[in-house]
Amino acid sequence: MNILLDINVILDNFDEKRRKKFSSSVEVFDCLKEQDDVFISSCSIDNIEFLKIKDLRIEKGYSAKQAKKIVKFIIKDLLEHFKIAKTPSYMEIDYDDIEDSQIIASAKAVNAQVITRDEKMLEKYPNQTLHPSTFTLSPRLIDFANLKKQHFMYETELSKAMDEVLNNTSFIMGDAVKKLEKNLQEFTGVKHAITCSSGTDALLLAMMALDIKPDDEVITTPFTFIATAETIAFLGAKPVFVDIDEKTYNIDASKIEEKITDKTKAIMPVSLYGQPADMDAIQIIADKYNLKVIIDGAQSFGSTYKGKTDSNLGDISTTSFFPAKPLGCYGDGGAVFTNNDDLSQKMRSLRVHGQTKRYHHKYIGMGGRMDTIQCAIVNVKLKYYPQDLALRQEVAKKYDKALGSKVLTLPYIAKETTSVFAQYSIRVKNRDKLQAKLKDAKIPTAVHYPMPLHLQECFEYLGKKQGDFPIAEIVSKEIMSLPMNPYVSDEEISYIGNYI
Ligand SMILES: Cc1ncc(COP(=O)(O)O)c(C=O)c1O
Repeated sequence: MNILLDINVILDNFDEKRRKKFSSSVEVFDCLKEQDDVFISSCSIDNIEFLKIKDLRIEKGYSAKQAKKIVKFIIKDLLEHFKIAKTPSYMEIDYDDIEDSQIIASAKAVNAQVITRDEKMLEKYPNQTLHPSTFTLSPRLIDFANLKKQHFMYETELSKAMDEVLNNTSFIMGDAVKKLEKNLQEFTGVKHAITCSSGTDALLLAMMALDIKPDDEVITTPFTFIATAETIAFLGAKPVFVDIDEKTYNIDASKIEEKITDKTKAIMPVSLYGQPADMDAIQIIADKYNLKVIIDGAQSFGSTYKGKTDSNLGDISTTSFFPAKPLGCYGDGGAVFTNNDDLSQKMRSLRVHGQTKRYHHKYIGMGGRMDTIQCAIVNVKLKYYPQDLALRQEVAKKYDKALGSKVLTLPYIAKETTSVFAQYSIRVKNRDKLQAKLKDAKIPTAVHYPMPLHLQECFEYLGKKQGDFPIAEIVSKEIMSLPMNPYVSDEEISYIGNYI
């Protein structure tokens, strides 16, 4: 839970007499100044200004000009250390104390508890308030993806971007969509970036553009999220699985050729956990047998293979902006990438029901657009993405160091490849036991993925059985992902390391 400071606790800090009298306010304030995610309600700012100017003029005899100057510094200092929680328009107003209800509503909006000395407020909102004398800084819970922190870091810009869309009501194909596509092209170095409704729909668009039809075969990995193979099957084609490489957990390129038949149309590698597969080897096979390459880059936006982003490889590459992905939006979203003009045009058309001009439909397509508001969000987050990625990679290095001496397998990143560490996944023999131990220590973990796709009920019809893809099977029993986001702290890493 976050913290929001009530105005009385703040003002205690800016007056000698009050500092002495309310030392617990001072202790809390000094301690929270150094913490993240501590808020002041937007409705408190002008009240602080008004009350402090009044106090300086009447009690201390300052001139209006001097008082204003001092208060300007106080407000500036507050804004440097604390975040502003907006007072939402949907709050319940308590007409006995409008200010209190505004503060409580601001706190609720940012999931915060209010620290206050106001007896009335403490009595009226016992579950949402705390007296400074009873406040202790308990360790924050470790957050797996920490989307909240990221949101609050960029909140002002994100709110502005969302407000722009709300205010001009261009909810579908508004300016932010084109802007994002241009930004994505620049970021990835790919000629065409086309946003779409999800990473799943991105795969559908890619295969539809390449005319993957019933009875065609698409070679892919069994160790991935269901969407990879599900979309192949959804189009009536057959997913043909190839076991994974024991080190990278990506498709083992050396085993692809033996699975090629005259029905094979495409190879679909997945850049699992954020690391591209062995793309040169895959492209050589594709060229030899005249197959298309579609990269499922849902987890790997921004990763590189021999200096190129993985969006810039294969015939078509896809990604997902699902919120927990390294570059996430605030709902569903995705994109397809290609350097081929015809494929780009076709995917743009397929995304809008196969339309070539209004109400003229050349192909059977889909409603697959990404909402303007989601594009506006990604436009803001993309600006900070290089630094987010660097931080993720730094966190991964720190984990490597903290866990290097333990009996487990660390993530392996192949030469000339970078990972965006969508997940930091280790392999341990006693996975379930360790997961339970970490849960007791309030350390969240996840398993990506506990069952390979050839053993899923929905793929029973493919006739595959236990033992067919032994590496995927063993890895799915031993893999476990640790909290991964740009903000995992050194303390958190060493705390997690102590339990592994
Ligand atoms: C490998 C992989 N492919 C496809 C998807 C589907 O993306 P979305 O959730 O945006 O539809 C995901 C998302 O979890 C994924 O991890």
